[in-house]
Amino acid sequence: MAATSPHLPWWNDRVGYQVYLPSFADADGDGWGDLAGLTARLDHLAGLGVGLLWLSPIHPSPMADHGYDVADYLDVHPRLGTLADVDRLVAAAEARDIKVLLDLVPNHTSIAHPWFARARRDREDPYRDYYHWRDPAPDGGPPNNWTSVFGGPAWTFDETTGQYYLHLFAPEQPDLNWDNPAVAEEFDAILRFWLERGLAGFRIDVAHRIIKAPGLPDQPVVPPELRPTDHSGRSADHHAIEHIHDEDQPGLKELHGRWRRIADDYDALLLGEIYLLEPATLARYLADQRGLHLAFFFGLVEARWQPEALATMLRAGEVTGPHLAWVQSSHDRSRAVTRYGGGATGRRRALLVATLTAALPALPVLYQGEELGLDDGEVPVEAMQDPLALRSGGALSRDPARTPMPWRDEPGLGFTSGQPWLPEGGRRRGDTVEAQETDPASPLAAHRRLLATRASLADLRHGEVRWVGEAPPLLAYDRGQARVVANVGSSPVALPLEGSAWRVAFATGGLAEGARLEGGAELASEQAAILVRDEAQTP
Ligand code: NOJ
Repeated sequence: MAATSPHLPWWNDRVGYQVYLPSFADADGDGWGDLAGLTARLDHLAGLGVGLLWLSPIHPSPMADHGYDVADYLDVHPRLGTLADVDRLVAAAEARDIKVLLDLVPNHTSIAHPWFARARRDREDPYRDYYHWRDPAPDGGPPNNWTSVFGGPAWTFDETTGQYYLHLFAPEQPDLNWDNPAVAEEFDAILRFWLERGLAGFRIDVAHRIIKAPGLPDQPVVPPELRPTDHSGRSADHHAIEHIHDEDQPGLKELHGRWRRIADDYDALLLGEIYLLEPATLARYLADQRGLHLAFFFGLVEARWQPEALATMLRAGEVTGPHLAWVQSSHDRSRAVTRYGGGATGRRRALLVATLTAALPALPVLYQGEELGLDDGEVPVEAMQDPLALRSGGALSRDPARTPMPWRDEPGLGFTSGQPWLPEGGRRRGDTVEAQETDPASPLAAHRRLLATRASLADLRHGEVRWVGEAPPLLAYDRGQARVVANVGSSPVALPLEGSAWRVAFATGGLAEGARLEGGAELASEQAAILVRDEAQTP
């Protein structure tokens, strides 16, 4: 790990990696990834150059949404391990200079959480007000027109007490009522519990939806002709209303700020899932740095191959300030390689985008398997597990992005000695870590060289970004003495290299790494490179 600049937070000099725990590595053969499996695979991540892990939820859960339905925030799901396994993971990661973030899920609990069990017992229970309860509408239906991300109304009627409860996601995920100060106090204690244990911070789930508009008013209906046809991991019902009262509400940033004060006591990182694509909107949460430290920029996760839109997205940080985490894949959307055209084409484009984001402030984050150039796994409808798939008859599913990590070319993929919880996904030998380890032309080799370049050149992590080419096909920006370039077009372009000579520090293809360029060069179609000014040798 390169030395941290005294002026920049510790995460600025790292690269993040999302571990979707159920599918990463299974140590006990039950078909589910677990903490011990991850701990045993840390050398893969250290060798890649990762300095920060984000773990999907580890807590006890009925797994209606694969851990995003938490039944106990202070313990570990027995299928994933124990508190002692968390301690072992954190220590083993620390020994490799890797920090670990947990996934904090504050918008909703599981219906199996004891708070909800109490709340649904009777209307007078002190825990009743931990959740949003409303009487039925006059016709007996839901109290308002809000819809669930996974489909259907955002309300479920509870027979015992004769009221509806709110859930922006599955009925098994009741939304917490953050107007109740007791809820905020519970979460203060949850944050401190894990930070005291040595965790380095949290990725915060649905950080843009936790607070709802007072009175929970109806939301405008989107005319059918204006609804998106590409659902992008959400139900048609979700897209049928305009979310003006259930996201981006006043009070959210203050809540983030409350957590920020706790995190800062521990020099911990808060990385928000603020799923709002407009940089100006994101800026309201980030620019003054009184709320979360960083938020993901999701433009690239949503996009297909759109070379003409790339520069605008990559410049989002000019609006938000240097507080973005750059991702192009996650467990919630189709993998970038697939969205960009699949196969060798998709791999080439995903590596190009990875190169372009490698030097953008503050933090590039890879999704497990991205370093292998994986495309979506094949999952037959009858094997799907995603709550979104179960409610859409398999028409919408996040499972293809969640199939097991292919470590070796053998039954179980080296992921498990048992039966994996999701199908293996139709991986081939060339997809595996084992095959790519020894192949200098593999995506794994390229990602290692890319991250090593970022680690070795301080200029790629410090200082202002200055765009010098933003019109396709040539995209380019400078950071210090380094220049990141990409040809997003379909034919070669001339690379004007005014002034000094340059050395090629990293190239996805076409240019030779280590070569010295003077005056100009040609960059092949859909290739990217990182160059460094070679002043010393310039005549
Ligand atoms: C976002 C998570 O990334 C997703 O997997 C989950 O379904 C929802 N939040 C609900 O927690």
